[in-house]
Amino acid sequence: VDGDGPVPCDWMLVGEATGDKEDKSGVPFGGPAGRELERLLGLAGLKRGEVYATNVVKHRPPGNRKPTVSEIRICGKWLEQEFQLVRPKYAILLGATPLSVWFPKDSISAVHGRVRKLGDTLFIPMYHPAAVLHDPSKRGPIEADWKTLRERIASYDRRDRQYDLMVSDGVDGEVVAVDTETDWNGKIAGASYSTESHHATFVPSIGDIPPQLMVDAETLVMHNAKFDLRVLKGADLHYKRLADTMIAAYVVGEP
Ligand code: URA
Repeated sequence: VDGDGPVPCDWMLVGEATGDKEDKSGVPFGGPAGRELERLLGLAGLKRGEVYATNVVKHRPPGNRKPTVSEIRICGKWLEQEFQLVRPKYAILLGATPLSVWFPKDSISAVHGRVRKLGDTLFIPMYHPAAVLHDPSKRGPIEADWKTLRERIASYDRRDRQYDLMVSDGVDGEVVAVDTETDWNGKIAGASYSTESHHATFVPSIGDIPPQLMVDAETLVMHNAKFDLRVLKGADLHYKRLADTMIAAYVVGEP
């Protein structure tokens, strides 16, 4: 079963292998996993007709088993040709099998939703849509990945974030995010703060003098606040609420 969709195409979706329905119809993602995929695409504002969908393995493995390494290798030639023709800006790898083709060392549970670049293409590994059908507890994290897909891509594209450098600085705001950097000895090298996306200010330590940072915030945001608060001991931090994105990530099931 060949791929399906416009060529060239900005979006290329790569699944594992054709299923029973696809084997009969000749169209990839034409069965229950395809219906789920269409729903997930909608969460990212995408329609089926705007994407090129294909599979690593072009035939249904007997008994619907996982494709073997040699099946993946043999079909890899077709996949490579398709990739050259489609020339996608964004390649969505649906599950562990397509992930193993481009990023053999990674596991899908560790890297799903993360954007990375290879050549001219941004690759985004996602859980396979059939995972929702087999394990309803995956619905939350899978839907979260699709809902935030555009934002994840946009923030990857804006990676040249702007940093200001200040010797000492005070900030007050509703939400202020603070992060510290330490050297190999665990000594504070500086602290950065941000009150908006993609713009931060870095306040370095000078010699033995720690960063002169004064914060007055409704909500102070940190990642692993236990660590940063220990390092920033003695800094002038005033806040009503502390939000820790590491704990938040754990709560929503991110690694
Ligand atoms: N699962 C896949 O990975 N691909 C299909 O085409 C159908 C189900």
